[in-house]
Amino acid sequence: MSSSILVLGGGIIGLSCAFELRRRGFRVTVLEIGKCGGQASGAAAGMLAPFSENTEEPDPFFRLCLESLRLYPDWQRDIKEIAGPGFDFEYTNSGSLYVFYHEADILAMETRMQWQNEYGAAAELLDANGLSKLEPKISPKAAGALYYPRESHVYAPGYVKALEQACRLTGVVIRDGLERVSVSALEGGAAVTAASGERIAGDLLVVCSGAWTGLMEETFGLPIPIYPIRGQICAYETPDMPVNHMVFCSQGYVVTKRNGTLVCGASEDVAGFDTSVTRRGIARLQSWNGKLFPFLAGMQPFHEWAGLRPATNDGFPLIGALKRSPSVIFASGHYRNGILLSPVTAQLVANLIEQRGTGDIPMAAFDPERFNV
Ligand code: GLY
Repeated sequence: MSSSILVLGGGIIGLSCAFELRRRGFRVTVLEIGKCGGQASGAAAGMLAPFSENTEEPDPFFRLCLESLRLYPDWQRDIKEIAGPGFDFEYTNSGSLYVFYHEADILAMETRMQWQNEYGAAAELLDANGLSKLEPKISPKAAGALYYPRESHVYAPGYVKALEQACRLTGVVIRDGLERVSVSALEGGAAVTAASGERIAGDLLVVCSGAWTGLMEETFGLPIPIYPIRGQICAYETPDMPVNHMVFCSQGYVVTKRNGTLVCGASEDVAGFDTSVTRRGIARLQSWNGKLFPFLAGMQPFHEWAGLRPATNDGFPLIGALKRSPSVIFASGHYRNGILLSPVTAQLVANLIEQRGTGDIPMAAFDPERFNV
């Protein structure tokens, strides 16, 4: 009989782990206090942008992101095939542009391009003329951009729905609306008690609770420096789709979705677990949006929302089993890149459980007990 696995959290990481473990033959139950994808995953802009999001050096986090980008074509195809035709979630080949405003930025951009191209970015440095050919509506004040043809994006709310559907259709049990859960046993397995008093037991527990994982320090008896960083985000109605690529700048990003909306994000605020938007937060987005794309100046977003990114003290996620309780595996703290990192995290978790190798991924950097000094 295969092991039974409890996955705590029905966000994109929890659902991805559940999907991968189920297709490897495990009996899997997802435990979710609200609804699947009801937090950061459903709020995300869905960018698959390891180069635009990692600008400094090829550190272990960058390498994790890159491996996940490599897995995406097959991963998203498998989910779509299983979920069925009503569950498309885009997967564009738009490419992206990282725009800069000053000639003085060119040296830094060249340095970035050089190391990233060693990792397959295929990036090109564009001057203002080259940039305006790719994005005719860009501000004439832009001095140029780094063009990344291999970056892509998905429609995150659709991705969560498709993954939930694929999980259900393949036999993952999804227990949502549990209101509150507590992990009550760790020896030789795991058990979770729901608000109703129901106790759900399994052989293994995979902790995918995003920003809420940091609240479980006492449960697991170790420091878990994961905390919420709010991202406020807004969307404009742009039925003519005037923006062709994902466009990043030092202030944030804009990305066109197939439904004709232009999604613009995102703030990084410390606001506890508050997911409301503030006038100031959205006004700041509008201010730089209008400078990047003058046609946006004065336009009002038709939708505003926020999600809580799970940040960690060193910026790296926690992926791995606890040494003192090997039946507990962490997969939390993906900060700005949960959507991108979902396939690689699912593969790593399943490989760890099956005691297969983890390839070239520098797992020590993601050890969940690394803060226990
Ligand atoms: N990955 C984009 C964000 O977190 O805003």
